[in-house]
Amino acid sequence: MPLEVLQQAAAEMTNWHDAQGRPSGMSVMEMSHRGKEFISIYEQAEADVRELLAVPAHFKILFMQGGGLAENAIVPLNLSRGETVDVVVTGSWSEKSYKEASKYCTPHLAATGADTHFTTLPATAQWQLSKSAQYVHICTNETIHGVEFHSLPDLQALGCDAPLVIDFSSHVLSRSVDWSKVGLAFGGAQKNIGPAGVTLVIVREDLLGHALKICPSAFNYKTVADNGSMYNTPPTYSIYMAGLTFQWLKRQKAGELCGVAAMEQQNIAKAKLLYDFLDNSSFYSNKVAHDCRSRMNVPFFLADESRNDAFLTGAKAAGLLQLKGHKSVGGMRASIYNAMPIEGVQALVTYMQAFEKSQA
Ligand SMILES: Cc1ncc(COP(=O)(O)O)c(C=O)c1O
Repeated sequence: MPLEVLQQAAAEMTNWHDAQGRPSGMSVMEMSHRGKEFISIYEQAEADVRELLAVPAHFKILFMQGGGLAENAIVPLNLSRGETVDVVVTGSWSEKSYKEASKYCTPHLAATGADTHFTTLPATAQWQLSKSAQYVHICTNETIHGVEFHSLPDLQALGCDAPLVIDFSSHVLSRSVDWSKVGLAFGGAQKNIGPAGVTLVIVREDLLGHALKICPSAFNYKTVADNGSMYNTPPTYSIYMAGLTFQWLKRQKAGELCGVAAMEQQNIAKAKLLYDFLDNSSFYSNKVAHDCRSRMNVPFFLADESRNDAFLTGAKAAGLLQLKGHKSVGGMRASIYNAMPIEGVQALVTYMQAFEKSQA
């Protein structure tokens, strides 16, 4: 979370103020989701995310509950019509999507990066897309394996008319999105948006209204859209925090750039700093192919893994936290989301240099 956002939330924790500085006399947590105060928070958040991501008018923006994993069920419940869907498996998260879809429809493994232990993305020319797939699912940033799509596949150019579904949970708002290639995007909040509890879903209008009969009403995209994300009580505090993050993002500047474009520049610089250091080291390494290295999640390994515990202990003492890699991959992982300033990445590199020296 950006520090400024946490500080603002703390300052108005017990008494929210509107844009004109007028106190509401209550915490956002105490507001009715249908009251004018929360409606104004909601409408501003929705307008800001539409502006930040340049979401076209024929897409609906939904704020839902359930997180990224629930969307692995909600997407097939709404879009699959119980038929075939294509899934490209590029790491743990798309693997989970593939497995979950089989409860509601027939997922087809269109391509997988398993043969390289998810250190490469399968080339689109090799994707075996089904003729009748209802959609094609990809995870555009694999958080655990550190693999990112740096451009979205053009399904039409591959002879496929199905809509593209993207799980952009772990790099949402870190870069722009080419909506001409997307049918639906979903993302949990807890990386670049705000605290866990709200899921952002951006869906092309023509995809609404085809849910399976068994789809729970609260998870039916059309019902949610028709009710302005208020069919059930939305996660109000998470939406408020997301709104503060959107405002923070709108304030970001890099030269002439602002908002997500400025953020993207900073993310490129942060990732370059860390990857360049790793590539010039024989003490540390990153195994992901250069063309699909994630700007958000950088898994790295010590050549001598017996030093892992000492590395983590020293890192903690230096104020560098949460660096242990996911148990399925091992090693280390630096998650350098939007809110991590370049100074944080520089501090990590400085520590890594010092640790290497201390081990000589
Ligand atoms: C890319 C991706 N998809 C899905 C999820 C699952 O999100 P949740 O735990 O909110 O269900 C995560 C969580 O880290 C993720 O990184």
